[in-house]
Amino acid sequence: MHIPTLIARKREGEELTSDEIRELIAGYAKDEVPDYQMSAFAMAVFFKGMTPREVAALTRAMMDSGDCFQYPADRPTVVDKHSTGGIGDKVSLILAPLVACAGCWVPMVSGRGLGITGGTLDKLESIPGFNVRVEMDEAVKQLQQMNVVMMGQTERFCPADKRLYSLRDVTGTVPSIPLITASIMSKKLAESLDRLVLDVKYGTGAFMQTQSDAEALAASMTAVGQQMGVEVFTILNPMSEPTGRTVGNALEVIEALECLEGGGPADLRDIVLELSMPISGKSRAELETLLDGGKPRELFDRIVIAQGGDPADLKKLGEIHRAPLIREVLAPTAGIVEAVDAGLVGQASLQLGAGRAKSNDGVDFSVGFDQLIKSGESVTSGTPLCRIHARNQADFEMAEAMILKAIRVAN
Ligand code: URA
Repeated sequence: MHIPTLIARKREGEELTSDEIRELIAGYAKDEVPDYQMSAFAMAVFFKGMTPREVAALTRAMMDSGDCFQYPADRPTVVDKHSTGGIGDKVSLILAPLVACAGCWVPMVSGRGLGITGGTLDKLESIPGFNVRVEMDEAVKQLQQMNVVMMGQTERFCPADKRLYSLRDVTGTVPSIPLITASIMSKKLAESLDRLVLDVKYGTGAFMQTQSDAEALAASMTAVGQQMGVEVFTILNPMSEPTGRTVGNALEVIEALECLEGGGPADLRDIVLELSMPISGKSRAELETLLDGGKPRELFDRIVIAQGGDPADLKKLGEIHRAPLIREVLAPTAGIVEAVDAGLVGQASLQLGAGRAKSNDGVDFSVGFDQLIKSGESVTSGTPLCRIHARNQADFEMAEAMILKAIRVAN
């Protein structure tokens, strides 16, 4: 296969065959196709798009570049959820043990935060000792013991996607619906799922800025999942305001634990239940009873033990990751909170150090926001709008200015 010709054909908007796509991706995974050719190909796809048949072929080729989960025949229903990322989105930490307690297997393979959106792996790693590098056979053993594993993408898990996603990140080719579809769905399909729920976000704090783009992405991912025999449910959720009242790694784990203990903010609990219903096959009332009964919280402790952590640390996470400076931001005027701009809060948390600008940057587990006010709540002058957890005074002042811009109070 002559790669420059293939790139040129895509550049001209031609439909490639499944065999051509498979060969290209297999060549890339084996290092026979260099990054410069793959980035040219990604840019051609960015501008010319792909037909549904091409997207399915690309997804399958990326999935086949590594291993897929293999389960025993008598396993229960295998399910997962994928969120296209948001600010303060700690839903996975609650949903995984909840749905596992409902009797499903949940092999949750998550990513790290990139840009302003947080990642489940970074949150989990704020628990001292928590190991997200679990090999597939170990993951299946853990599923047999406790119905759930929470892990990252290993070397043998969709390696072509791992490389291509990093390449797209530095070549301006991330926001392409065919490439996003193939990237996300190849990883979800390699989990050998029966059911998948997709939480497709849109708004200032999301990848997809508009509802119509989010609908197009949801339709594209659903079509690929269905072609490969997975029952896919999509739920569109606005990401105009952060989820819950915390943003930042350890702070979000603390809030997730509150939710697992029957408390936590109403919007967080709502979205957990909404996304858990279709994959678990349980009603909202059944899931609420399960959540409030404490079994998912106990299971979270068992996951922590199985993956190298100590549940005793969960009770003191705020002390373990205590930022040097924790201070409130006060409302300058009285009124009703009209908006909390998720995009700006995400930018502020990134600049505090909670997120990463490049994929190999580290993150600071301790920084971020808690006690965030929600829209619709009323304030008087001097009411706290949130608390900032910062490394120093300069970072606090930067975040304070951004928070005062993000939170709009109407009188
Ligand atoms: N998450 C992924 O895993 N891939 C994308 O392309 C975008 C978000």
